[in-house]
Amino acid sequence: MLTLEAVSATLANVQVLRGISVRFGRGATVAIVGRNGAGKTTLLRLMMGCMPKHTGRVIFDGHDLSSLPARGRAGLGIGYAPEDRVLFPSFSVEGNLRFPCEVIGLAQRAVDARLAETLAIVPELEAMLPRSAAALSGGQGKMVALGRAIMAGTKLVLLDEPFQGLAPVLATQYGTSLQRLIRARPELCIVITESNRSLLKNIPSETLVLERGELQRSDAATPHSH
Ligand SMILES: Nc1ncnc2c1ncn2[C@@H]1O[C@H](COP(=O)(O)OP(=O)(O)O)[C@@H](O)[C@H]1O
Ligand SMILES: [Mg+2]
Repeated sequence: MLTLEAVSATLANVQVLRGISVRFGRGATVAIVGRNGAGKTTLLRLMMGCMPKHTGRVIFDGHDLSSLPARGRAGLGIGYAPEDRVLFPSFSVEGNLRFPCEVIGLAQRAVDARLAETLAIVPELEAMLPRSAAALSGGQGKMVALGRAIMAGTKLVLLDEPFQGLAPVLATQYGTSLQRLIRARPELCIVITESNRSLLKNIPSETLVLERGELQRSDAATPHSH
């Protein structure tokens, strides 16, 4: 569904990603593990087509994402929860959840149906719906960002370090929501980055390691020598 072909990316004259070729298939839950600064956020931005300076190709469902304008990408079914969550503080939680679907012009009833499905997957959001997004704790904001990514991401959901800084109770709720999401949408591809892979428990079906700008399967990664 999503294929990266020989993708390299440079930020401020530093090569962050080197020759990455990888395929993300339907129904996979893939972890991308790497230290801070390894390039995880850069890689996710590329996967949603919003990273202009790169070589190679990013193909989603037959569309070359690098040649599509932002408007063309919005309706493709990619949901993204950035690590710094970026909610609209002047909107309610419900407004933030509905926003990406309204932007792509989805009919009201379709948005209602997606909201109902999202609340079944992340039930903690129900009580938060009328609250101002500005009034949320960091962890609550992460739950809302997950909900928003589910609202938009019917095919691909990208989660950037979702467990970082989550209190244990919220981390457990978040993990349970991911399990519900996997069950509710067996065709969905979910990509989760993390610097600390133990936080992911047994959620991913496969793990890739990002190191020095290169992506390797976890089982192929060479162990560090002492
Ligand atoms: N806007 C930017 N300008 C210059 N360098 C950047 C920028 N964003 C990130 N970098 C650098 O690119 C590298 C990869 O960053 P990032 O993708 O954010 O890694 P991660 O998400 O794994 O922590 C880091 O060395 C970081 O310092
Ligand atoms: Mg990052």
